[in-house]
Amino acid sequence: MIFTSLLLLLATSAHGQTLYDAAHNITAITGTWSSGSQNVITGAGFATPSQEAFTYPKTTGMSYSFTADGYYEIARYRMTSNGTVPTCITGVMNWSHGTYVLASNGSIVMTPFGDGYQQIQDPCAAISNFIENYNYTELYVLWNIYQDPVKGYTLQLYQFDGTPLPPQYLVSTSPNMLPTQALRNVSTTTTTTTTVQNAVVVNANAGERRWEAASLTGLLTVISGFGLVSLLL
Ligand SMILES: *[C@@H]1O[C@H](CO)[C@@H](O)[C@H](O)[C@H]1NC(C)=O
Ligand SMILES: *[C@@H]1O[C@H](CO)[C@@H](O)[C@H](O)[C@H]1NC(C)=O
Ligand SMILES: *[C@@H]1O[C@H](CO)[C@@H](O)[C@H](O)[C@H]1NC(C)=O
Ligand SMILES: *[C@@H]1O[C@H](CO)[C@@H](O)[C@H](O)[C@H]1NC(C)=O
Ligand SMILES: *[C@@H]1O[C@H](CO)[C@@H](O)[C@H](O)[C@H]1NC(C)=O
Ligand SMILES: *[C@@H]1O[C@H](CO)[C@@H](O)[C@H](O)[C@H]1NC(C)=O
Repeated sequence: MIFTSLLLLLATSAHGQTLYDAAHNITAITGTWSSGSQNVITGAGFATPSQEAFTYPKTTGMSYSFTADGYYEIARYRMTSNGTVPTCITGVMNWSHGTYVLASNGSIVMTPFGDGYQQIQDPCAAISNFIENYNYTELYVLWNIYQDPVKGYTLQLYQFDGTPLPPQYLVSTSPNMLPTQALRNVSTTTTTTTTVQNAVVVNANAGERRWEAASLTGLLTVISGFGLVSLLL
């Protein structure tokens, strides 16, 4: 399915100017999208910016929301295990929002408001749990929306280096988002809080995590500058 979509994508982006037609995206990008078993959803159920806090979802995953007037929000919950010390599993929650642009070359550029933050839990590190500001402009070089026979409308985003993100399924056509403005004042110095609580990492759903790790890395390479795409299958 993804393969077919990529071929369609190739056809539509071959002339430099991306056409946002049904072959590229069979529905609009506006709304809320979520990967895997859809436990990670943008909005008030994930981040509480005024308290720099998170509500931990049942499983790892990611969620992106887009409004019709140019705002986005991202919620991500990720885990990585340490190759040399397999019991050291690092958990990262991160949240950001801001404005996005659908560029004519088919990319999406997401510029944050500056109030994003992330929490990193690493049971084996000297500081096992800390929260810091997160403010990076994100570039997605390609995207498309296709119909998955089981999951329905599916958003595929490709990161700056061409690596595909896990497919995200449409949760709702009206975006579930926090207010589209800066929601906390950020000082230039990073706020760091330290605790010793690692329960969230320990209780993680291993199946979901493993699925995320099995990414489709290598499926697609973008030769930058030409907008050319080569399939490595
Ligand atoms: C493709 O996405 C764009 C941006 O969301 C939207 O304007 C357009 O209507 C979509 N195309 C289709 C066929 O839904
Ligand atoms: C794995 O854990 C060891 C011991 O805590 C640490 O020195 C190393 O940096 C970790 N590696 C990664 C990739 O996190
Ligand atoms: C925040 O999430 C994104 C996506 O998973 C990731 O690229 C970024 O590295 C995360 N931050 C950290 C410190 O891992
Ligand atoms: C597409 O355009 C955007 C915005 O102008 C730019 O940031 C990005 O680098 C371009 N993408 C590629 C693959 O050249
Ligand atoms: C966040 O990043 C944006 C885009 O690079 C920048 O304009 C803004 O000043 C940054 N905000 C903070 C608080 O660092
Ligand atoms: C940021 O600080 C100013 C001045 O203290 C205050 O008026 C404003 O409400 C604050 N904004 C947020 C989002 O907390």
